Amino acid sequence: MDLKRRVDTARALADEAASLALDHFQRRAELRVEKKGLQDLVSRADREVEALIRDRLAQAFPNDALLGEEGGGGTAEGTWVVDPIDGTTNFLRGLPHWGVSIGFVLRGRVELGVIHAPALGERYVATRGGGATLNGERIRVSDTSALPEALLGLGSSRRTPLPPYTERLAALLQAGVEYRRLGSATMHFAAVARGSLDGYFEAHLSAWDACAGLLLVEEAGGRTNDFLAGDGLREGNAALVAGPGLYPALAAALGVG
Ligand code: IPD
Ligand code: CA
Repeated sequence: MDLKRRVDTARALADEAASLALDHFQRRAELRVEKKGLQDLVSRADREVEALIRDRLAQAFPNDALLGEEGGGGTAEGTWVVDPIDGTTNFLRGLPHWGVSIGFVLRGRVELGVIHAPALGERYVATRGGGATLNGERIRVSDTSALPEALLGLGSSRRTPLPPYTERLAALLQAGVEYRRLGSATMHFAAVARGSLDGYFEAHLSAWDACAGLLLVEEAGGRTNDFLAGDGLREGNAALVAGPGLYPALAAALGVG
């Protein structure tokens, strides 16, 4: 398994995909928006960017599988996990927090993750054991350890029932937390990895929302839950990440392992 070639390919491909996505973003008034479900949108931009990534990876690594948000797919010993535009609603409304997310999972472990958010000028790269970078500079999670000092990312979607979200939010606010909701799982992970947020929780993410971001946080010194446990790759899972000092208190407050 040539991981080095996969890292180089993913980095170059994320740049190419991000530039195609940015081109659509700048001309987004021309896009026809379709509804996949309640508050769940898609356009030609998502599909074209995913198709580009699929074609390039199939050419370069014909034996790898690929799971993508728009086109689905299967899993194999080595599986690419791709969200062409994570934060589609932000993208379609002209908000800059969205990004291309490309992860690679080998035998149940994320080995590389690249996230490119071109409207913010941010490219994140993580390789297992090789650290995490933002635009080539090493990044690190925050050292916050107390909930009353924490700024968290909290997300939710219509895939999970509302009451647990509102109840958890109320409990965390009572505990003294402040929070942001950036509208993109990927950008939440990136913000935790560079220490702008102290932690992030969402009750359900799909693997394409999460794989690259989870490794980014781990390689930036953070802790993550065991997202891929069970059938996380195909079914998704809850996602919890935080700096090591905050993780235990946050996991306890949320009632999550
Ligand atoms: C969604 C975003 C959102 C999160 C959802 C995701 P999409 O992905 O990451 O922030 O709350 O769980 O599905 O639809 O923008 O690619
Ligand atoms: Ca997504």
